[in-house]
Amino acid sequence: MPFPFEISAVEGRARTGVLKTTRGDIRTPAFMPVGTAATVKAMTVDQVQQTGADIILGNTYHLMLRPGPERMERLGGLHNFMRWDKPILTDSGGFQVMSLSGISKLTEEAVTFSSHIDGSKHVLTPERSIQIQADRLGSDIVMQLDECVAWPAEEKRARQGMELSARWALRSKNAFGARDAQALFGIQQGSTYENLRRESSERLQEIGFDGYAIGGLAVGEGHEAMCEVLDFAPEFLPKDRPRYLMGVGKPIDLVEAVYRGVDMFDCVLPTRAGRHGQAWTWDGPINIKNARFAEDQDPLDMGVPCPASNDYSKAYLHHLIRADEILGKVLLSWHNIAFFQALTAAMRAAIAEGRFEQFRRDFRARHLKA
Ligand code: GUN
Repeated sequence: MPFPFEISAVEGRARTGVLKTTRGDIRTPAFMPVGTAATVKAMTVDQVQQTGADIILGNTYHLMLRPGPERMERLGGLHNFMRWDKPILTDSGGFQVMSLSGISKLTEEAVTFSSHIDGSKHVLTPERSIQIQADRLGSDIVMQLDECVAWPAEEKRARQGMELSARWALRSKNAFGARDAQALFGIQQGSTYENLRRESSERLQEIGFDGYAIGGLAVGEGHEAMCEVLDFAPEFLPKDRPRYLMGVGKPIDLVEAVYRGVDMFDCVLPTRAGRHGQAWTWDGPINIKNARFAEDQDPLDMGVPCPASNDYSKAYLHHLIRADEILGKVLLSWHNIAFFQALTAAMRAAIAEGRFEQFRRDFRARHLKA
């Protein structure tokens, strides 16, 4: 295994530890800010680093369209290009093809799609996705190409997607080969079906990956249904490797997933919501545009160690967002990322000190009131 995963404390199914990569330690539970197009939107990498993020996520789909993989390689890879020297995990592209691009054709061999930017046609195979991520972008954690089936799915359709993903897992692994400074993660699929999630996990473990993701969730099923899947899905994956829940989620989703044995997350929520005036705090989400903040002199949240959270009044942020000022988007994105990092830091401390059960109860009581 290229990256040791050292679990330092366990409470129930929740774990805390460190994934040690050549570009630095990733403390788990970890939240990865999304840097889709070689930027965590509206933030400098120095701000992202100050929030305590150990790793960010990049997207093969966006970067292969613009600026293009070969140009990225000539420019020294994604880390050098955006000047982020800590770990980067890249998603493989299939999921973004489904959610963003024009008509896509899916065959055993590849997914074919037209660019959402200029309509140009592109083909992504498992092998090409690995090549772009590992060799052109220089990603630290590479994701296999997979198919995320839309929700709801009949069992037959969910099985098709899971089986194609398992065959693509093998092709991805063969293309990746053995590397000592980069890791490859497999992706469990199977929609809401326990038998499919189990079979998916078994097939991935036969191939053998450095870490295992849970895909196909947060696609419309809702918090309760997702928790029901998480009651069994992480348990099918190896205990001694990191488990990554893709595209999740709200703070309450993170707490409930950690409770069920998940170690890593990514989501556009903090930055996207921030650009639209939504701030996430220990007391729950607020919409800063709301008239009740027009003369509120208090900061967003003194429980989040970040200048954006502590040093500006809600009245000022209310004004900036209402006036569509760029600084409003910057400050709310920064605050939200800092809150998500404060949340994962608090979960790590709670698990380390054996009080995660209590933390979860307190968090629910405070964050979900209203
Ligand atoms: N992001 C959110 N869900 C998924 C998924 O199922 N697969 C991939 N590759 N990325 C995701």
